[in-house]
Amino acid sequence: MFSLAHLSDVHLAPLPRPDLSALLSKRAIGFLSWHLRRKKIHSATIARQIVADIKAEAPDHIACTGDLLHIALRQEFTRATQWLEDFGPADQISFVPGNHDAYVRVAWAEGLGRWSAYMTSDLNLVSPDAMPADRPGFPYVRQRRNVALIGVSTGVPAALHRASGTVGKVQMAALAKVLELLHARGFCRIVMIHHPPLASQCVPRRGLDDAPQLEDVLRRHGAEFVLHGHNHTHMHEELQTRTGLAHIVGVPSASAAPGGHKPPAAWYCYKIKRQSGSWHAGVTVRSYDGSHNRFRPEREFSLIAG
Ligand SMILES: [Fe+2]
Ligand SMILES: [Fe+2]
Repeated sequence: MFSLAHLSDVHLAPLPRPDLSALLSKRAIGFLSWHLRRKKIHSATIARQIVADIKAEAPDHIACTGDLLHIALRQEFTRATQWLEDFGPADQISFVPGNHDAYVRVAWAEGLGRWSAYMTSDLNLVSPDAMPADRPGFPYVRQRRNVALIGVSTGVPAALHRASGTVGKVQMAALAKVLELLHARGFCRIVMIHHPPLASQCVPRRGLDDAPQLEDVLRRHGAEFVLHGHNHTHMHEELQTRTGLAHIVGVPSASAAPGGHKPPAAWYCYKIKRQSGSWHAGVTVRSYDGSHNRFRPEREFSLIAG
């Protein structure tokens, strides 16, 4: 039995006060959207409580699928780095970037590279020159017993008024190779990705530019579970692949307060085991209960993959 916590879209609050020069970019739109809309949704208190709730359950590993930030300010990177370090050691937390973590172009070493310890392979199946130059190290693969966690980056700066992402040709080819090799070795493959992987799951302005190609890779090479965020709501799709059934599961924002038009914060706890030639996951959804000001189990369900 392997236990895995999945949370996403923490959108750490509050937004730090930016320098005026930092707003001379797409960030100005995100700054307005924070103050007009998002600051009422994302709660720093709930973000602290979800971490405490996950720690109390003591899962074997934690998957965090992007959007820690809002407009990729230097101060946000600094605060999120501290948040990750307080959450847990890098070998217990796997992170993939979201569109808000790559809101505008920031040099790797000053931005996403600060979290590289949470995004590194310990199973080297792809040579560095077969990885995308703008997202070094992706896709990464971490082995935990008979489970392989595969981190895909879709966080690239998008045009004004877009929240889209892309896997890109180079990362897509590497992902296909990784999925094939891991299947041959008998691993349970868990893909972590910020954007929902199927074109039908997002309007084009918010979705993956290359979702049809990703769906084709998933169908041809298979995966057991694909965990994503971005839509800030509970989602579950099934995909028939060459290697069996894949489950595609999305979670709400980890800091969402009750009373909005999206569900309150929640995280999913997977308990995964091999049984009769398939991969079985018992899933507990732990949601924020505003009336008691705490997380509690909301529902449970089972998934069989492969
Ligand atoms: Fe988000
Ligand atoms: Fe997002």
